[in-house]
Amino acid sequence: MPSLVNPEVEMAVKGFILDQEKMAEVVERMTKEMKMGLAKDTHPRAVIKCFVTYVQDLPTGKERGKYLALDLGGSNFRVLLVTLNSDSDVETISKSFEFPKSLMSGSGKALFDFLAECLSEFCIENGVQDETLPLGFTFSFPCQQQGLSKGILVAWTKGFSCEGVVGKNVVTLLQEAIDRRGDVKINTVAILNDTVGTLMSCAHSHKNCRIGLIVGTGSNACYVEKTVNAECFEGYQTSPKPSMIINCEWGAFGDNGVLEFVRTSYDKVVDRITPNPGRQTFEKCISGMYMGELVRLVVIEMINKDVMFHGDKSQKIQKAWSFNSSYISDIESDPPGEYRSCNKVLNELGIIGSQESDKESLKLICEAVSSRSAKLCACGLVTIINKMNINEVVIGIDGSVYRFHPKYHEMLQFHMRKLLKPGVKFELVVSEDGSGKGAALVAATAVQNKPKI
Ligand code: GLC
Repeated sequence: MPSLVNPEVEMAVKGFILDQEKMAEVVERMTKEMKMGLAKDTHPRAVIKCFVTYVQDLPTGKERGKYLALDLGGSNFRVLLVTLNSDSDVETISKSFEFPKSLMSGSGKALFDFLAECLSEFCIENGVQDETLPLGFTFSFPCQQQGLSKGILVAWTKGFSCEGVVGKNVVTLLQEAIDRRGDVKINTVAILNDTVGTLMSCAHSHKNCRIGLIVGTGSNACYVEKTVNAECFEGYQTSPKPSMIINCEWGAFGDNGVLEFVRTSYDKVVDRITPNPGRQTFEKCISGMYMGELVRLVVIEMINKDVMFHGDKSQKIQKAWSFNSSYISDIESDPPGEYRSCNKVLNELGIIGSQESDKESLKLICEAVSSRSAKLCACGLVTIINKMNINEVVIGIDGSVYRFHPKYHEMLQFHMRKLLKPGVKFELVVSEDGSGKGAALVAATAVQNKPKI
């Protein structure tokens, strides 16, 4: 059967194809960049920062107690109350709050006042306002940590751009906002990245979990490094603890131009319309915040060339960011030759009277963008596994793209197998509730490790 896809569309998506050779090149370049982040003398000019997290204890299963957690930086903002009763009994109460878009670019004070307000509302609703509970703050942005409870924001990512936060300790900003209200007693004991929460939560049930990965709004990974290699940690040669979790912040890979060979003209357009142009190059090729816009840009070009949707320019799809990344998962969920989810998406976008060839073209564009994303993620994970020099590992994963895309898991696994040395075994596991259980586990290590006076 001849392909229903217009040859112009096939040409347009060619740039997204990554063959084995290019993937091997990505791994090689990423390996170099990660080493630079980890080493003290090259860290200041490295793009993949490999931040020290000060989390040196993986869960033992003996952690107990009641903890609060805040989760900022994913698709929604949440407050949680987590009770660790035993290693198999973890109770979580959580509430998602509508996060006003205006707060993403307002003042830092407005942002932290909002967080404190939600926290206070949640504590009062759950009757814990008079207990001084330890809090783990999942703050999913690049932070230079100076301790478990001290994190200086290096740059905003994922569309945030609040004033007066970069260069500040976000734990202090949160604590000050809580104190300004004065109606709840909270002790912020730990700040953590979402990748770290994901790793910890997964390690609680999978002993061999050593890597945490997020493929959601943004993308990033962390892993367990030998403390002696974590040169940016002041005690790296003397620490009694053998391990240190490293937050790679791999989203910034390519910000120095080394990824130009995988980028397309569409990537460059997306980059220009973000609040952080020139930053988070790797993330912008991979994550949910940008995938939909990449698809949309190809579609618009095809509409303008009159090869899709009858060249009709009047639809909602003309508007930047109107194509949600979740549409990609929907469209790719349709079995071959069926278009139920695709029709629903087209309907939402106000596109009527499309032909089967339009739908096949749209699916091909989605597949081009999502498979490049999975291939790049596979390259990242293989870089980390090679760096760790281990033969067996469990990888805890969270994020909307990984969870909801029908083929992401398969694609990731397939390409990792092709890139890894023979004999290296790995397992990709969905990590449940990193920002709840994971944050509580990190908070628990912070409380345990506090010197008793
Ligand atoms: C962005 C953030 C990073 C986070 C990732 C996933 O890359 O900079 O800290 O882990 O998104 O949410």
